[in-house]
Amino acid sequence: MNACQGCELFQGATQGVGGRGPERAALMVVGEQPGDQEDRQGLPFVGPAGALLTRALAEGGVDPDEVYVTNVVKHFRFSGTRGKQRIHRSPGRVHVAACGPWLVAELEMVRPTGVLLLGGTAGKALYGTSFRVGESRGHLLPWPEDVGGSVRSRHEPDWVVTTAHPAAVLRSRDRERDYGLLVRDVAVAAEALTGTAG
Ligand code: URA
Repeated sequence: MNACQGCELFQGATQGVGGRGPERAALMVVGEQPGDQEDRQGLPFVGPAGALLTRALAEGGVDPDEVYVTNVVKHFRFSGTRGKQRIHRSPGRVHVAACGPWLVAELEMVRPTGVLLLGGTAGKALYGTSFRVGESRGHLLPWPEDVGGSVRSRHEPDWVVTTAHPAAVLRSRDRERDYGLLVRDVAVAAEALTGTAG
């Protein structure tokens, strides 16, 4: 993954950031792309959004240690710097499409029963550009026909739950309410996992 030059993002990033967690996991959590700290450390969700995600998973009834966590895009996209921190810029469709085979490889390795998608970029990667978090969040959705618009996974999870991105919760003016909604959506996934366990 580090050697990936499937798009231009490798040029500015420190390294490619793959997923982390058990090689087989019932739940895969998919975010957008590594942030500043993830890019430096080479691990997904190790910054402030990751800390919030870990707390929300535990509160929603999912053991964070049993989850495989990854992103749709594996290299950090940023524009400019603020102090020592580089300023996040959302990946474009071309980056999501270029990274599609990595997500497919992770799905086929981990073989999750369910997937929790965090935010609009992850949602659009699987459900297309008309996807809106607000319309679909917190429901069990069927696995979409296409992943990344063009790449098909041979492993199709039983269900998908979409929710807001924890970074959006951190930016929210009503953080407490939005954190509560995130935990509520995690609980939907937790309940589905219980229903399909064993
Ligand atoms: N935001 C993401 O979407 N992924 C990370 O790994 C960190 C922040």
